[in-house]
Order: sequence, then C-alpha cells, then structure tokens
Amino acid sequence: MTAPEVVAHRGATSAAPEHTLAAYRQAAAVGADAVECDVRLTRDGVLVCVHDRQIRHTSNGRGIVSALHLAELEQYQFGSRKPRKVVHRWADDEILAVTDEPDVENGLVLTLDRLLEYITASPGTVRLAIETKHPTRHTGKVEEALVDCLRRYGLLGNGRPVEWAGKPAVRMMSFSQLAVRRMSALAPAIPTVQLIGKRLRPVRRELLNGSATAVGPGISVIRSDPQFVADAHAAGKEVHVWTVNRPADMDLVQRLGVDAAITDDPVELLRRLGRN
Ligand code: G3P
Ligand code: CA
Repeated sequence: MTAPEVVAHRGATSAAPEHTLAAYRQAAAVGADAVECDVRLTRDGVLVCVHDRQIRHTSNGRGIVSALHLAELEQYQFGSRKPRKVVHRWADDEILAVTDEPDVENGLVLTLDRLLEYITASPGTVRLAIETKHPTRHTGKVEEALVDCLRRYGLLGNGRPVEWAGKPAVRMMSFSQLAVRRMSALAPAIPTVQLIGKRLRPVRRELLNGSATAVGPGISVIRSDPQFVADAHAAGKEVHVWTVNRPADMDLVQRLGVDAAITDDPVELLRRLGRN
C-alpha cells in the first residue's frame, strides 16, 4: 500500500498566514508533496488565491472578491488570518524568513499567476491542487481563466498531464460537479477531484461513476464510512481526503491507503509517515 501524498492546505498555514507565498514556501521547505490553494475570480477576471467570498477575515479591506478589480484588492494588505493551531510546534529556526523581494511577500493579494510562477521556478519541488470556489456563479469563466493560466506556465499537458516525480504537477478540485465536468471538457489532461462535503451527497454511486479522476471526501465521511476508500479504488478513482489534522485521522487515512491527505499540519503528517 502506498503512503498518501502530503498536501499542505492553503500552504503551511500553521507557520504563516493562509494563501501567502510565505505559507507555500514553508510547505515546500518542510517537504510537502503538494500545496492546496483556493481560487476566486476578481471582477476583471483575474484568479486570486482567496478562500472566503469576503476579504475582511484575510485582509485589512472590506468587500467581495468577485465585485472588486485586482487593482482594488491590491490596495489592501493580505495575510491577516492567524496561523492555525496544530500538533506540530514550530521552532523559530524552522520558519523561513520573509524575503524583501518586492511584490512577493509584502501583503499583496496572491494571484494564481504569481503562485504558478513560484511553483514552476523549481519544477518538481512541490505540486499544486487548485480548488475553484463558487464556479457556478461565473458560468464557466473560472475554468476558462484557470486553463489560460495553466497554459501560460506550460502546465496544461498535451493528452497527458505534465508530471513531476511521477505524479501530475497540477490538479483541479471542486465541490461543483458542473465545474469538474467543464474542466474535464476544456482541459482533459488535467486530473480533477470531485470534492464531497460532510456527508456523501449526491449519492455514492453517482460520485463513483462521475467524470472526475479522483474523489475528495471530508475526513468525517471517511470516519463514518471507511469502506468508501476501497469502493472508490475499485471504481478506478483516487481518494484525496481533507482536512486531515488530528493524529488519529492521520493514522486512519494511512491505514486505509488514501492517495492524498490535505492537512494544515504537513510536518506532523510527514512525521507519522516516517518521512522526516
Ligand atoms: O481540499 C478541500 C478543502 O480545502 C475544502 O475545504 O473550506 O478549506 O476549502 P475548504
Ligand atoms: Ca480549499
């Protein structure tokens, strides 16, 4: 049984604020296999790495991402959500220094372009799982923008995904089945993950027969229905579980042989997998 890929949720969010380049650099530095980021479309059609619909919890600004232009978002300082509490306690010398490079870690909202630029600067260092947020509000524009972005960085693949260390460099994830279908149609080489909330909705069979290459259940689904992992594998789907933070859950996903575990605590998960 292979060990799960370790995916740092919104970057190493226990060491640095979510969706900042600092959090992504930190995740790569501790040896995470991949990083997860949420993307939303600005009013002028730019994908930015922001989880919430509103910006008040992660910046000093106010407003809704989709109602603001990138230039308006850039007037605010991002990175204000406090790092998450996890099992691993960071020593001061484990946390990377913030660089002085202009436009890198100075609080500007992180665009997907900037994150891809960072990731492709050292191909293979860390892979990327991109979650599109509320794509149905934009009728296909999010997937189109995502495809354009991936093309700019040579990550669209040609019949097959671009691979780093034997795994796809990028994958797309969404709770929306429509968004997953649209992405598969626009960019068939990009693997897709059909995310599933707290309960198995819609029904199990429909999920396992869907177009996504993987299913992404929340950890509570796996706790209550561990057989789902074997069933998904039998249906030819990978299983990418979120958000795996408790030690018991880390052990459970390892025991069940899931393919990827998305976590706020990549250091602890790597330790439990015997990788650091
Ligand atoms: O990876 C899926 C997970 O990130 C979904 O939850 O709310 O953190 O985006 P959320
Ligand atoms: Ca997410």
